[in-house]
Amino acid sequence: MLSPVSLGGAKHRLLPERIPALFFGTAVIAHVIAWAALAFVAAELPYFAGGPGPVLAALHTLTLGVLLCTAFGASLQMLPVALGQSAPTEAVCLVIFATLVTGAALLIAGFAVAGVTLMAGAALPLVVAVALYVHEIARLLRGSAGPLHWFVRTAIIALGVAVLLAAALAANYSLGFLPDHGLFAALHATLAGFGFMGLMVLGLSQILIPMFAIAEPPEEPPLWRAYALAIAALALALTGQGADLAPLTAAGATLGFLAAVQHVQTMRAVVAKRLRRRMGPEFILLGASWVALLLALLAATAAALGLLPATSAALVIILVLYGWLLSILTGVLQRILPFLASMQAARAQVRPLAPTKLVDERALQVHLYGHLAGLGAVAAGTAVAVPELIIAGAVAGTVGALGFAWFALTVLQRTRRHLKTHALERLSPS
Ligand code: HEM
Repeated sequence: MLSPVSLGGAKHRLLPERIPALFFGTAVIAHVIAWAALAFVAAELPYFAGGPGPVLAALHTLTLGVLLCTAFGASLQMLPVALGQSAPTEAVCLVIFATLVTGAALLIAGFAVAGVTLMAGAALPLVVAVALYVHEIARLLRGSAGPLHWFVRTAIIALGVAVLLAAALAANYSLGFLPDHGLFAALHATLAGFGFMGLMVLGLSQILIPMFAIAEPPEEPPLWRAYALAIAALALALTGQGADLAPLTAAGATLGFLAAVQHVQTMRAVVAKRLRRRMGPEFILLGASWVALLLALLAATAAALGLLPATSAALVIILVLYGWLLSILTGVLQRILPFLASMQAARAQVRPLAPTKLVDERALQVHLYGHLAGLGAVAAGTAVAVPELIIAGAVAGTVGALGFAWFALTVLQRTRRHLKTHALERLSPS
């Protein structure tokens, strides 16, 4: 048995198809907006230092619209399969989706116009979405053990705390009760970006990368080492931020770098022993995501020690969000969307549908080049504070995101056509 995912039983643990379609469809649309929005905030982005406004609206279009939607959709779908549990009910998933999207829309609009009521109004639906999601994932983890369990468990705890801090920040605009708003914002960003998204990505990589490469899952000891380093890094970074002790924050970022090196080594060893010869564009995105993560942590270490110019805070945010997390998530979606569509055909008991038949390679090429060019230009433009470079990067990234939307639409259309044709075949007498 090569993959830790039992594909035989997966059919029975799949969510109704409209659930992943809603989460991933929202992510595909928000992805285009999140890149395009960078063009409109190009002048303010390099010196962004927190606070509501268009920059935070653009960033949360990415974090809530793309990153959370993809992470929620992927984990609600993949964890029941990987852990051998029954999938969450359709009703719960629909409530999570509806509250997440409502809260995200209110928050992004609130940030964009600095509207205190909109931002405060966003907190309740977002807290509900996250509470339900955390509850469902905790249920799926019951009875399991091992590294995947602990990566995911720690990730959902971090998400819970990050969102409570976010709700306090949203209320603070009108009530002004927090002693240090900027500090709470920074803790929220570390917990959401590295704590939730980071640990979830590291955890799900353990199942997804062997599945994509057709390879043996990694051994446990290196996964435990990465977990221990990542937790220690998070604890040090949060303590350093909280106590305003820059050397401690820098030590946290350095340990985070070591955790990332351990993770990359483990995953590269998995890929090296793969059975699948052809490496699709998703592996280039995976490589880019690792490079961005390592650079982000080096930059965060140097920034904490005051060795970098004032643009370094925004640069770290871009490298983490558009570099590391967006690269890996679009890489994962490239494989999950056709895979889920083929499972859907299996569930409908029509003629099997090969995932590769659903993909238009040209669309993926447009995405790959647009994404890489966009990321390079936006990161460089932010570092050297040249808005024109950020605008050029935003345009390239938007073209890439449109390529990604073209890919997703093709998967949808080809699946529908296949289901329709073969359902008719089944009905017609032979
Ligand atoms: C789930 C619901 C979320 C809510 C309600 C939320 C809300 C907020 C609020 C109110 C702020 C403070 C803005 C300020 O006044 O400075 C903020 C900042 C920020 N958030 Fe979120 N956020 C959420 C999720 C996320 C996620 C998932 C990420 C990352 C993956 C993220 C990354 C950031 C970043 C980078 C900042 C800027 C921090 C700084 O100024 O240093 N947020 N968010």
